[in-house]
Amino acid sequence: MNRRSVILGGAAALALPFVRARAAGPNFTANPFSLGIASGCPTQEGCVLWTRLAPDPLNGGGLDQTPVEVGWEIAEDEAFTRIVQRGTAQAIADEAHSVHVELRGLQPHRWYWYRFAAGSAISPIGRTRTAAAAGMMPLRLALASCQQYEQGYFSAYRHMAREDLDLVVHVGDYIYELSWGRQQIRRHLTGIPTTLLEYRNRYALYKGEADLQAAHAAFPWLVTWDDHEVADDYTNDRSPFQADAESFKRLRAAAYRAFWEHMPLPMSAKPSGSDAIIYGGWRFGNLAEIIVLDDRQYRSRHACFEGKRGAGLTGDCAERLSPDRTMFGATQERWLDQRLAQRNGRWTVIAQQTLMAELDRGRDAPAYWMDGWGGYPAARQRLLDGIAGHRVENPLVLGGDVHSYWVTDLKRDARHSDSPTVASEIVGTSITSDGPNPQYLERLLAKNPHVKYARADKRGYTTVRLGEQKAEIVFRAIDNVVDANTGIADLARFTIENGRPGAWPS
Ligand SMILES: [Fe+2]
Repeated sequence: MNRRSVILGGAAALALPFVRARAAGPNFTANPFSLGIASGCPTQEGCVLWTRLAPDPLNGGGLDQTPVEVGWEIAEDEAFTRIVQRGTAQAIADEAHSVHVELRGLQPHRWYWYRFAAGSAISPIGRTRTAAAAGMMPLRLALASCQQYEQGYFSAYRHMAREDLDLVVHVGDYIYELSWGRQQIRRHLTGIPTTLLEYRNRYALYKGEADLQAAHAAFPWLVTWDDHEVADDYTNDRSPFQADAESFKRLRAAAYRAFWEHMPLPMSAKPSGSDAIIYGGWRFGNLAEIIVLDDRQYRSRHACFEGKRGAGLTGDCAERLSPDRTMFGATQERWLDQRLAQRNGRWTVIAQQTLMAELDRGRDAPAYWMDGWGGYPAARQRLLDGIAGHRVENPLVLGGDVHSYWVTDLKRDARHSDSPTVASEIVGTSITSDGPNPQYLERLLAKNPHVKYARADKRGYTTVRLGEQKAEIVFRAIDNVVDANTGIADLARFTIENGRPGAWPS
């Protein structure tokens, strides 16, 4: 339970009309629920409900320092005739008047509907779903990443909201701090954020999009961040754009804070200064565990780039191969290994930021993308050794970041393509962000035999249906990212059979 939330218990409280919960609040002159509502972090008995009061969203929110009481209720039906819990939370200025209600005591494996009230306003209705407590009931999720606002409309989310899903997993680049792209249909209108207020306004710009709000309202989400929530290609306390680690950590603190304020995350994920623990594991009965990782906050600095400005493609060097290099940091890596040892389901889904497979991107001599796993081979080896050593059932790695669809076999020994496949890997394309050159991917496909599929020219998302005997993956592609009314189609389908790592076309 949110420390500032109060549950009104018992039948008498539930009989109170919802209007009573908001009687104390202000009379808003503009809609305070302009950024929508959301739910996330589903367990077998609850989830986190989120909203943020922002009647003037692009200018700091539009509220003064006064705390605002926000009523919430959750029901077994969309008409709210069977309300199961109701309460209030304090939205405070220090948290951008966001609320994060941590529910418990719900029934496993079922849909619920929720809404908020503040002052004279009532929010739209959201739908959420708890995880199964046991058994192998199928789980259907959508994988999303990379939604540069200037490069297209968020139409993919309108289609996603209509899918039959239990969950959305977002693996980062929810906002972009900078402007870029071959073609811009609209502009951020403000520059790269440097303060908490500016990061809040950037989230407000993105979260104002109706299609994104629809996908949040339709399903619970699990979220992690990548680099653009803070600064392009940052690693730990180092930004390519700031020489001084201390000033970068102040920026990171503001960016992390704004991320938490705008996501359906619990109090435990609220940053303390420039640190925040957002990784975790989520169980869905005996069917699956979804492990969500943070590969930005704790990682080693880019290899082989001393004195240069940022990461990129570079030839091999001794530093790249150093066993000291880490992607997750020692604490998270230890936690992950313990979690893998528990073998918590038929499927162990590892949701992280970017393409994990070894990928030689060089034309003649080998070359690696140092901001991706290419810069952290020893850390990848430790993870794959852990998966193999613990005999994890059906490990499935999900990623984003590269703005293209990929299917790969993660090999026990990345240098030998005939080495055993340890895990299946699926990488989803971007919601809007520009993809790489298709001819470049064709070349990488030809050169890297453990890569089974790579497609750069389409935007969209990926659905994954986990069942008792197989996982079914569909790459969903919108027709045209600059058309707000664009259609969607299946681009490709893959299947992973229980007990046989590696996805195959279906
Ligand atoms: Fe991205």
